[in-house]
Amino acid sequence: MARIVGSITTSHVPAIGGAIAKRLQSDPYWKPFFDGFPPIRKWLAEVKPDIAVVVFNDHGLNFFLDKQPTFAIGAAPEYRNADEGWGIPMVPPFAGDLDLSWHLINSLIADEFDMVTCQEMTVDHAFTLPMALLWPDQKWPVRTVPICVNTVQFPLPSAKRCYKLGQSIGRAIESFDSDARVMVIGTGGLSHQLEGTRAGFINKEFDLKFMDSLIKDPTWATQFSDLDLVEQAGTQGVELLNWLVARAALTGRVTLEHSSFHIPISNTAAATMLMENHV
Ligand code: DHB
Ligand code: FE
Repeated sequence: MARIVGSITTSHVPAIGGAIAKRLQSDPYWKPFFDGFPPIRKWLAEVKPDIAVVVFNDHGLNFFLDKQPTFAIGAAPEYRNADEGWGIPMVPPFAGDLDLSWHLINSLIADEFDMVTCQEMTVDHAFTLPMALLWPDQKWPVRTVPICVNTVQFPLPSAKRCYKLGQSIGRAIESFDSDARVMVIGTGGLSHQLEGTRAGFINKEFDLKFMDSLIKDPTWATQFSDLDLVEQAGTQGVELLNWLVARAALTGRVTLEHSSFHIPISNTAAATMLMENHV
């Protein structure tokens, strides 16, 4: 059966794509953020995952405000980066893993998660930039399965529901008849708000408590309603739901192998975590 090796969570600010293109990794503004990644890359080089299940939110590329699935999953042989604005250079396409996609779809739907199944899907900065941070040569060594969570348009799935989705993903991966090593990536957050009178809102105390909870008390965030999360983390800070899904997919004892936290990148409190799964 497949083995879940761990979760990596990271922010996904579009400006990161611009910084990569302009080679600003050592620039004083960017260095504290990019410095969060070498330890994660070292772990990846040692563990060598075969497949990455990537939990993120689509920012209007596949689903706009007229059609917004709560949970969607890719079942395509390949996922291409598409132009979403921002002026970010395109990255090479990502290979899919149709066997794991369909196993997840069958398992999740049997487990009462009514996923929208996407046999075509393009991917935006929330998928491409975390991958480019993990593998800067952009020669992707993993096959991928994208999972989109609606963190964009109310009503959003609750933190409690997202946690249960993550647990269901974890069970599904572990029942996948394969010897693949599977990692789960969660992207977005942490606190940020891009519009309205609270534009620029950041809540370091809440972010650090949330990160700590993922190791020590992973259901902690499930006590909050989505409006509570907006209040605490900002209208786009609710992207932390993607982190919660990725963490909840870990089935064993979880250890924190690395983390970083830096304010701000663009409008966002930018953070990473590497959590290893011991089964
Ligand atoms: C920013 C953050 C996001 O999560 C996003 O999707 C777009 C922009 C920002 O901080 O600029
Ligand atoms: Fe975002």
